[in-house]
Amino acid sequence: MTDLKTKYMGIDVKNPIIAGASSLTSHMSSIHKLEDAGVGAIVIKSLFEEQIQLESYKMKEDLHKDDDLYGEMLTIFPELEHSGPDDHLHWLRKAKEETSIPIIASLNAINRQTWIDYAKKMEETGVDGLELNFYRLPVEFDVDARTVEKEQLDAVTEVVQSVNIPVSVKLSPYYSSPLYFIKQLDNSGVKGFVLFNRLFQPSIHIDREENDYSLNLSNSNDYRLALRFAGLLHGQIDASVCASNGVNSTESLIKVLLAGADVVQMVSALYSHSIVIVPKMLGELKEWMGDKNYKSVKDFQGKLSYANNSKPEIYTRAQYARALLHPEKYILTGE
Ligand SMILES: Cc1cc2nc3c(=O)[nH]c(=O)nc-3n(C[C@H](O)[C@H](O)[C@H](O)COP(=O)(O)O)c2cc1C
Repeated sequence: MTDLKTKYMGIDVKNPIIAGASSLTSHMSSIHKLEDAGVGAIVIKSLFEEQIQLESYKMKEDLHKDDDLYGEMLTIFPELEHSGPDDHLHWLRKAKEETSIPIIASLNAINRQTWIDYAKKMEETGVDGLELNFYRLPVEFDVDARTVEKEQLDAVTEVVQSVNIPVSVKLSPYYSSPLYFIKQLDNSGVKGFVLFNRLFQPSIHIDREENDYSLNLSNSNDYRLALRFAGLLHGQIDASVCASNGVNSTESLIKVLLAGADVVQMVSALYSHSIVIVPKMLGELKEWMGDKNYKSVKDFQGKLSYANNSKPEIYTRAQYARALLHPEKYILTGE
């Protein structure tokens, strides 16, 4: 009997496909659909401190826009406050109550104290885990890598020490020495790494010569970066690894598991193929495992990791040495 059960951040999941944070996980109707489709767990769309700040600022502005005209406006709404993260927390509680699979909250904060305060509030909703969404893109010329990393490491360490649920960190791929940084986070008690975040990339509409804000979905080869790091990290850290970014087929799912990922997170594929891709991939994964005589995911997970690979240099090569040595194999043929 083939069994897809595995563990992520110490949480039991019935299979290795997790629905990543996105607008799809921001409504109860699609959350129910994802559960029905068979995902192993769901990461709810992130709570962004920046958004709360903006909404709160906008509300204050709206409430007080006529203050100069009417003095009494100052006393009509003297106590009104923005609800802050309450709506989000209410909906996390609801997602947890109305589903029977693990629910993971996601948080992106700016201020140190907010990371801790919101993390504690999220824990109180009953969610099974917390993902810290690090998407800061340093665009300053005068902030060095050490400063950025220390800030993030301190925030993570404090959150880990403030809550009792497992904490994962979703990283961007842009670190000078990712393995060193990941190891430090691992030592701080992080239970999972989501590798990697899909950052919004700017684009330009060439006819209108304007900014282009179209959806930035991943492509079918993007999973290779996650594969590399899943392979390098397998067996080297205590935390689990979740491959993310470009896992959009059974083939890429199997490849990242063979490299050493514990689970995968998918978003783009859910948008481009719809939710039916989940049962399709789970069925095909079972079939492949059956053909190979694997009874459980553990039987093959990490089989081709850096540590277990007969040619580990596949993970450490950064250039096309093979193409340079054997150019004849890489000639384009065409009519
Ligand atoms: C439309 C969209 C919305 C997203 N929203 C969030 C979010 O709220 N929080 C977050 O951490 N990641 C967010 N992401 C990133 C995804 O969770 C995921 O890490 C990423 O898309 C990589 O996986 P993929 O190749 O399957 O899309 C979003 C991605 C997309 C495409």
